[in-house]
Amino acid sequence: VQVNFHTPDGEKISIDAPEGESVMQVAVQNGIRWIVGECGGSLMCATCHVYVDPDNSQRLGVASDDEDEMLEAAASPRTECSRLSCQIRLGEADQGINIHLPPTQR
Ligand code: FES
Repeated sequence: VQVNFHTPDGEKISIDAPEGESVMQVAVQNGIRWIVGECGGSLMCATCHVYVDPDNSQRLGVASDDEDEMLEAAASPRTECSRLSCQIRLGEADQGINIHLPPTQR
């Protein structure tokens, strides 16, 4: 599954990721430093905050109550595109997903 990370300074980093991984895992494993993933994906930190391109967000559905609550603690401003990337599990339908990285996670 191709994941396109867009850095805050406008760079695009494309990574070919295995299905079933979360966007947070893919970012951490590939040195995408804008995603921290401090809690390892257990909805305890909000340092995996990203902005999902509106074109790609439909398939993801709405955030769970726990994700929604944790997003309130995100360091960068929350928008309607905000999601926690550890909760985005990549599937075939996510091919070419565009993930915009926030300027800071702390
Ligand atoms: Fe901590 Fe996603 S990695 S909430």
